[in-house]
Amino acid sequence: MGSFPSILLAQNSSSSPSGTDASYRVIPTPYTPQNGIQQNVSVYEPYRGNECHGYRAKNISESQKGITGILELIGSPCNAYGADYPYLFLNVTYETEERVHISIRDLNSSQFQFSKRHDVWQAPLYYASTSSLNKSNVFYEFSFNADPFEFWITRKTDGEVLFDTRGNHLVFEDQYIELTTNMVDDYNIYGLAETIHGFRLGNNLTRTFWNNDEASPLDRNMYGTHPYYLEQRYKPLNSSNFTNSNQTTYSSSSHGVLMLTANGMDVLLRPKYLQYRMIGGVIDLYVYSGSSSPKETTKQYIKSIGLPQMQQYWTLGYHMCRWGYQNITEIMRVRERMHNSSIPIETFWSDVDYMHNLRDFTVDPTSYPRDQFSQFFHEIESSHQHYIPIVDAGVYAANPTNRSDDTYGPFYEGFEKDLFLKNPDGSIYIGEVWPGFAVFPDFIHPNVQEYWKHGIQNLSYAFGSNSSNYIPFSGLWLDMNEPSSFCVGSCGSELVNWNPVHPPMMLPGESSSPVFVYPNISNPSNTTEFYSAYTAVLSQYHATATTSFQTVHSTPGPLGDKPNINHPPYAINQEQGNHDLANHGVSPNATHYDGTLRYNLFNVYGYTEGKVTHQALSELQPGRRPFILTRSNFVGTGTYAAVWLGDNHSNWPNMYFSIPGMLTYNMLGIPMVGADVCGFADNSNEELCARWMELGAFSPFYRNHNSQGSSLQEPYLWGSVAEASRRAMNIRYSLLPYWYTLLNQASSEGNTIVTPLFFEFPDEPHLAEADRQFMVGDALLVSPVLDPNTTKVNGVFPGNESTVWYDWYNHTAIEHKPYENKTMDAPLEHINVAIRGSKVIPMQQPAYTTEETRENPFNLLVALDKQGTARGSLYADDGVSVTPNATLWVDFSAKSNELSSVSFGNYNVRVPLANVTILGVSSSPKQVQFNNEAVMSYNYINETKELIITKLENFTSIGAFAKNWTVSW
Ligand code: GLC
Repeated sequence: MGSFPSILLAQNSSSSPSGTDASYRVIPTPYTPQNGIQQNVSVYEPYRGNECHGYRAKNISESQKGITGILELIGSPCNAYGADYPYLFLNVTYETEERVHISIRDLNSSQFQFSKRHDVWQAPLYYASTSSLNKSNVFYEFSFNADPFEFWITRKTDGEVLFDTRGNHLVFEDQYIELTTNMVDDYNIYGLAETIHGFRLGNNLTRTFWNNDEASPLDRNMYGTHPYYLEQRYKPLNSSNFTNSNQTTYSSSSHGVLMLTANGMDVLLRPKYLQYRMIGGVIDLYVYSGSSSPKETTKQYIKSIGLPQMQQYWTLGYHMCRWGYQNITEIMRVRERMHNSSIPIETFWSDVDYMHNLRDFTVDPTSYPRDQFSQFFHEIESSHQHYIPIVDAGVYAANPTNRSDDTYGPFYEGFEKDLFLKNPDGSIYIGEVWPGFAVFPDFIHPNVQEYWKHGIQNLSYAFGSNSSNYIPFSGLWLDMNEPSSFCVGSCGSELVNWNPVHPPMMLPGESSSPVFVYPNISNPSNTTEFYSAYTAVLSQYHATATTSFQTVHSTPGPLGDKPNINHPPYAINQEQGNHDLANHGVSPNATHYDGTLRYNLFNVYGYTEGKVTHQALSELQPGRRPFILTRSNFVGTGTYAAVWLGDNHSNWPNMYFSIPGMLTYNMLGIPMVGADVCGFADNSNEELCARWMELGAFSPFYRNHNSQGSSLQEPYLWGSVAEASRRAMNIRYSLLPYWYTLLNQASSEGNTIVTPLFFEFPDEPHLAEADRQFMVGDALLVSPVLDPNTTKVNGVFPGNESTVWYDWYNHTAIEHKPYENKTMDAPLEHINVAIRGSKVIPMQQPAYTTEETRENPFNLLVALDKQGTARGSLYADDGVSVTPNATLWVDFSAKSNELSSVSFGNYNVRVPLANVTILGVSSSPKQVQFNNEAVMSYNYINETKELIITKLENFTSIGAFAKNWTVSW
């Protein structure tokens, strides 16, 4: 079947039944959610590995490129949580100067090897050139003891031991692998996402990797998996000379460690060690020798997993979303009220409300009728605004006995092409999500790409597009893609004919027993014909799939037993009730087209959906950078998508946790990230929302979103929130050239956009835990209020005595001492922002949208350091193209009372330069010149020591950076 039945489009036409039509019937919820089988979390149970003695290394062969050898089990098998492999294969490869790869697998390769599945996950680290590398020119050294086998990796430059298994036995069983590294005292590690935790992870935490749909559980597994950490170490340089620790000076270094696997795992962070406990797969460990700069270490990592994609310019604007906009009129009203309140809005988002019966790729004909949508699209396009709809991973599983259901093409097309995840017996896995019973596209299937693209294209038609070249939405929002499923196992397998059309729980805002109104589509044209085809395909399919599954999975493990896939002997600390691995997600025994169990690819589903969606949008809008926001994510997701931090709550702690969340994702190569501003679940309030709108304006991705049933939280609803939003957005939009330059540096270099303080000031141990303040790029320090009932905020101003920080608003140098926790005024509508002396920041006069801002003149803010110098840069291009026709890079440099601008590339911003403001000018200049011509219009303010040079348009009318120039004073 090459296309969706035409009836799919017809059901979106205005002739479909209206919401009050008597033909609607009400289907009550058939059953309640379950929690699965109670599992005893192994990390809290007595440890079963005491009888394990590890392995001894034999047949070691060393070369300039690495080491290979055999590992032989010592003593009898301990079978702690599975069956020990008697022999293993060790392969150590010096992959780059900075990165070493340690691979340990069973001899016959019967364990699943994630790193072999390039069809699922690929990254630059697979293509490392080792040609010119040898043992002597890499920055690290791999050492080992043979009996028992233990290894350690040392950084050659300073002798720091970066990874060290000495004294810890390797356990390698079919369903349990344990590898332990010794850690330094009070270690500082970051990463191992996704969880709700302070930025520094501390020394007593169990991190579980099992992608999970849960709203902000503290310290537990959530939507994403990133088994990478960065470790930062400090060494006192002169501690013996000082008793006051504030006067001790330090040097520092950092390195990174990635355990590449999509299997479930616990990572135990304990005072003396860090231990990986994986429930399958093999060991693919990558150690990055790092650098004295955590920024450089981060770049080593991000370049190896894939640089993040460059985002379109408009994505930096303000986004407004809500689950519960009942109809298009409500969204249009939001647009009007935002405009009337002079609060910018760039992008309107639709949650599942727009869908027809909560089904992917359909549009509700009644509340979101096509003619109104066309009008909406027309209006937002003319005002340079955007629209993004949600798409869920679960595709509604149609009911074969319900005549009305055969109109739902996305199910039947996938069904006929055999593109959904299966049960072990080869039948289709049917879980349950918002629309009722749902099936899950197998995003690694070779044919899934066309199917998914087709779905997106049909969504575009459903919105009213008449052309395959025109997609009216500007991006897609991928949700529920862990994938989430509300029941345990394939709950719909035998029940699809009583398909619930309401999830088996109360939705937020529902007060009585949940029921859902279901429209009967009148006169489905091809029902009988369809139904017989369906039954035929079903039986034929069932027979083949069952056979192929048995071939793939009949291999027994080393003990001769078949592994227990849904309830492995080692129970990871999965967050969901009862800890059953199948609880609230598609089960580990669900199977991909080639027989691979989800058990082995569990954490990568959202990543693969992002990749397929990225490809689909690239094909549908050739040359344009796709914008995708995904909830579930994995190592490398940044190449395809942005991420939001999922379902948080409208409370103060959740606002604070958004900072470590953003900082963590930035060091993991997903720089375009943000939280649901003002909070998703529960009701926000005026003070919280005002503070959060301020903070959100300094997040790379800035979106206010809330849940159905929560009270409205659009920023115009409260006076102070409106005012706080206007002020903060004014700053954000004026900084758009700076943000865009940061995006460019993130996607070309692996830089962070929002940056932890210690990345910029790595030799200050007191910043190791700082996550209530953060930097935007390397020039702006943000100190948000994160507590209620206060108009003060504390913060540090890092650096030494010679570091200057200027207040964003009044441009005065901030008085501060090193290490001082300074208290600052922070009235409700005000967020403290400081500019770091030594930086030049490109800006534009802010307007209502990003497009209009781009049409305004440029300004430069030059913040001099104590030596009177500053540097900065600007990147510009057309803002949309994957490969722009022209690009521009500008280097700004100030010293000796002169600012120079040197351009590279041929993109012309066209608009002129208007003002240059220079902070830290000690006295009034005698004259100001632009390229040696006198500038008449300037003002020196003695109190703030700033020089404001205006009306530079006359000198730069052909484009602010079309030529190189100097400004001197
Ligand atoms: C999930 C998403 C949330 C969305 C809701 C309804 O909870 O995380 O953002 O609003 O589903 O689609």
